[in-house]
Amino acid sequence: MAIDVYLSEEKIKERVIELANKINKDYAGKEIVVVGVLNGAFMFCADLIRHINVPVTLDFIAASSYGEETESSGQVKIEWDLKNEIKGKHILLVEDIVDTGLTIKSLKALLGSREPASIKLASLLFKPARNIHPVEIDYLAFEIDDKFVIGYGLDYAGRYRELPYIGIYSE
Ligand code: IMP
Repeated sequence: MAIDVYLSEEKIKERVIELANKINKDYAGKEIVVVGVLNGAFMFCADLIRHINVPVTLDFIAASSYGEETESSGQVKIEWDLKNEIKGKHILLVEDIVDTGLTIKSLKALLGSREPASIKLASLLFKPARNIHPVEIDYLAFEIDDKFVIGYGLDYAGRYRELPYIGIYSE
């Protein structure tokens, strides 16, 4: 088994700061609710909010998709819901990776139905080659090749989330 570094710790740090600066500009004078999508986004979310300088509250949501057979319903199973109401609030959804797009499209629709003032998406990664549910990513750190990646929050069978970089796993 081998792990090749795909995006280094330094490169991720730089890009996270760039995204936070853009978020700070766009939300100047506003307060935001950052919603981290568990488990994968925990590290990106933690690093991102350290560079956000508008008032932030933090909440989390966890979802698992039912699989492709229920694709048309666009639904995911909510494993852990927000603790707080979001009606009238500015929501910044923070995701690790948009792959097919099913998870985030469904989460956006769910949170949108709770009447927030606005809802935007920040994603660490986007794999265009596999995307079948187009979703607007307002703040994207990296577009990546069609490879299975691990580290910096992302797992393979529950492991490797702790790596400070993003790597490509091979047997
Ligand atoms: P989607 O619903 O197909 O967009 O998948 C989203 C979820 O699949 C992500 O939140 C990840 O948890 C997982 N995922 C997709 N691609 C990868 C990968 O390359 N590495 C690790 N997890 C991935």
